[in-house]
Amino acid sequence: MAQLRKIDIFDTTLRDGEQVPGAKLNSMQKYQIAQQLARLNVDIIEAGFPASSPDDLEAVRRIAFEVEGPTIAALARALKSDVEAAGKAVKGGLKPRIHVFISTSDIHIAHQFKKTRDEVLQMAVDCIKMAKDMVDDVEYSPMDATRSEFDFLCEAVERAVDAGATVVNIPDTVGYAIPSEFGSLIRRVIEAAPNSGKATISVHCHDDLGLSVANSLAAVANGAGQVECTINGVGERAGNASLEEVVMAIKTRKDLFHAKTGIKTKEVARTSRLVSRTMGIPVQPNKAIVGANAFAHSSGIHTDGIIKERTTYEIIRPETVGITAHQFVLTARSGRNQLGHQLKMLGHKFTEEELDEVYERFIQVADRKKEVTEEELASIVGARMGQVAETFHLEHVQATSGNNLTPTGVVRIKIGGEIVEEAAVGDGPVDALYNAIERATGVKGTLLDYSIRSVGAGKDALGEVTVKVRAKRQVVMGQASGTDIVETSARAYVNAINKAVARNGGKVRAARKKTRKKSKKG
Ligand code: KIV
Ligand code: ZN
Repeated sequence: MAQLRKIDIFDTTLRDGEQVPGAKLNSMQKYQIAQQLARLNVDIIEAGFPASSPDDLEAVRRIAFEVEGPTIAALARALKSDVEAAGKAVKGGLKPRIHVFISTSDIHIAHQFKKTRDEVLQMAVDCIKMAKDMVDDVEYSPMDATRSEFDFLCEAVERAVDAGATVVNIPDTVGYAIPSEFGSLIRRVIEAAPNSGKATISVHCHDDLGLSVANSLAAVANGAGQVECTINGVGERAGNASLEEVVMAIKTRKDLFHAKTGIKTKEVARTSRLVSRTMGIPVQPNKAIVGANAFAHSSGIHTDGIIKERTTYEIIRPETVGITAHQFVLTARSGRNQLGHQLKMLGHKFTEEELDEVYERFIQVADRKKEVTEEELASIVGARMGQVAETFHLEHVQATSGNNLTPTGVVRIKIGGEIVEEAAVGDGPVDALYNAIERATGVKGTLLDYSIRSVGAGKDALGEVTVKVRAKRQVVMGQASGTDIVETSARAYVNAINKAVARNGGKVRAARKKTRKKSKKG
């Protein structure tokens, strides 16, 4: 086979993926995911949008200075203040990139920006030049490229490359393109923009019509050298092209694409689980490559074929993407050192103090169960990373329910130096506990989503609860894992409201006093 062309994989899970409502990550979570993306060997990590908040700037900065291997990109609108923030985050980092974007479609230019074509082009050129003074590697995206007038799009590409862009990314921002059309667009841009050969042509596809992966692959077949994608396809609205699908299609059909990526595919399943757990976004069972059923054969004809010869019904070996039956198991007697060693093997870097905290939680779980599997340990660690400053610390949980009982919940919560105990009834034990938590904390929350999944198999498997809650004008995810699902549900809810309060500047007391007065009156 002739030499394979290398396609760069640009992962935007930490930026476009994080735009999913409720999926906002804290800087520790972002850092851990970035470390795993480095182990997956992505070429570029888009770590965030530094102008969006000082917290995001700090998170991007830490990743840019500490995560070795991939280029670290920071997003910026074509505004001087955004480019300054992006520069602050990545300039001087290990392998920095600034990614500048502004729309080129008339729909966006007229209605959103209320500017002329010339004005947006000038903004792009000025900001690319400004970014170029800070870092060598600058990417430019003409947003909504697929609904832009072709000649104007080519002019934007040409001007961007002249201004110093090293990568020009063609986004299908609203997921409007069809594969044959998108492939041909990429080919035509490469041919029409006279200096396109001086930059890498990239693509960034959204999944509104379920075509993001197909569009990305059509672009690769037509000369694109970089694909922007996210783990599990998470992202704005219907999401982005899924990294694992793009990568495995290129690998499985290299006969057709004559291309390869640098992805260490054995890390795919682990990365998928980490992102799903940390963002609180479950993976659908029939999802290609990483869904629970992706390699499960049930029909008699298929299993018969597989037993006789694997390739009859399997185009990818599960082990190739890191799905293996061989996982380690720990017990309560494994000790802190052994735990530390296994965490290191999984790629976690913890301080001694953090390791103590994980060990404490591990022992609580290991005392109740005989064995703690790799996946269960990952779940315990995931819950630890999602912790925020605990305005409310849940000390005690008690719930009763039955077919002839009114479900009742009692909680004891530490708030500062004070202990508050409240009881409430509800439709079920979880509802009763949530009502009791609301009384005790004074934080009114609306439960938007609740999910529970078993981590591992067996009756004593760990339950992982994820809640999506609207509280304090924020939509947040809360998570916890444990062997008692009612207690775990309460901890997940308290985790969510702690996040909402933290994002709202930590103001709780007034609301809590009001609720308590009301509850004393009855
Ligand atoms: O979808 C989009 O156009 C984007 C740009 C910022 C590249 O996310
Ligand atoms: Zn996007």
